[in-house]
Amino acid sequence: MKDQIEAIQAEALARIATANDARALEDARVAVLGKKGTLTEVSAGMRDVPKEDKAAVGALLNTARTAITAALDEKQQSLQDAADKQALEGIDLTLPARALHHGSLHPLTILRHQAISILRRMGFALAEGPEIEDEFHCFDALNTPADHPARNEKDTFYFDSGKLLRTHTSSVQVRTMESQVPPVRIIAPGSAYRRDEIDATHLSVFNQLEGLYVDTDVSLGDLKGTLEYFFQEMFGSGTEVRFRPHFFPFTEPSFEIDVKLHVKGQAPRWIEVAGCGMVDPAVFAQINVSRKDGAYDPEKVTGFAFGMGLDRLAMIRWGIKDIRLLIENDARFLKQFA
Ligand code: PHE
Repeated sequence: MKDQIEAIQAEALARIATANDARALEDARVAVLGKKGTLTEVSAGMRDVPKEDKAAVGALLNTARTAITAALDEKQQSLQDAADKQALEGIDLTLPARALHHGSLHPLTILRHQAISILRRMGFALAEGPEIEDEFHCFDALNTPADHPARNEKDTFYFDSGKLLRTHTSSVQVRTMESQVPPVRIIAPGSAYRRDEIDATHLSVFNQLEGLYVDTDVSLGDLKGTLEYFFQEMFGSGTEVRFRPHFFPFTEPSFEIDVKLHVKGQAPRWIEVAGCGMVDPAVFAQINVSRKDGAYDPEKVTGFAFGMGLDRLAMIRWGIKDIRLLIENDARFLKQFA
């Protein structure tokens, strides 16, 4: 039996040595160590080995099994190494990796961040409200009568439910005053929607930034100082800013703000950048009706509000001629802001 074991071992090792793929190696393993393998079968003969020889034969069987298993492992490893080596042939692992594409912030995002940061330095906190609004928050509470042109179906997107897409962020003024007592000093950047014909200066969705400051002694001087400072921070310290009387239903007096634009090769011109005014006492009175606590008593509080179009500011800031560039996602355009 000893001779048999040694012969099986020698034969197995020879077969393993010449196996040159995974399949041949597996066949070799099954032929020796499988259920009907040669070594398995000879092991069954242990039963008939005389007692005094059992230890020696057993040891020999173990040695053979260990040697064969080790040879199988080793061969398996070397076949794997060869396969890896072949897979890597022709690939230069020292080449630098392909550069990752770096994106950049959208110009509107850059501008919004800047506007927010200037106003936060002056103590304005962020506020928000829904884009799907009701007529009360978009119009009625803002002293805008039912026959006002902005409420026309031709100008505003209405849902069957009677709700609408807010036409301005001024609705956030109302929502803020409903939920907070004065003093309030908030800014609300967000989308607004109008049924405009789309052209180089109009989209049906645009971006506004609303501001509201209400306290016991807010004056027109505060409004002017705040917005002059804002536009000088935005467009440079020498920027000329003017307040031109205007009308908004929810502020009195009201103004449009123009900044003087200097473009090389062109005569300087005034260009409108925002609407603003002192909160109309009728708005405070309406808030008091909603709140029932008199926190916005028009005899005690005053305030100012402003609203600006961020798309427009971006266009002025970078000389963008067509507002549609802001939504087309053309990488050639966007790359210029990286
Ligand atoms: N909501 C006005 C608009 O969309 C702008 C505005 C805001 C005017 C606040 C006055 C005060 O045109």
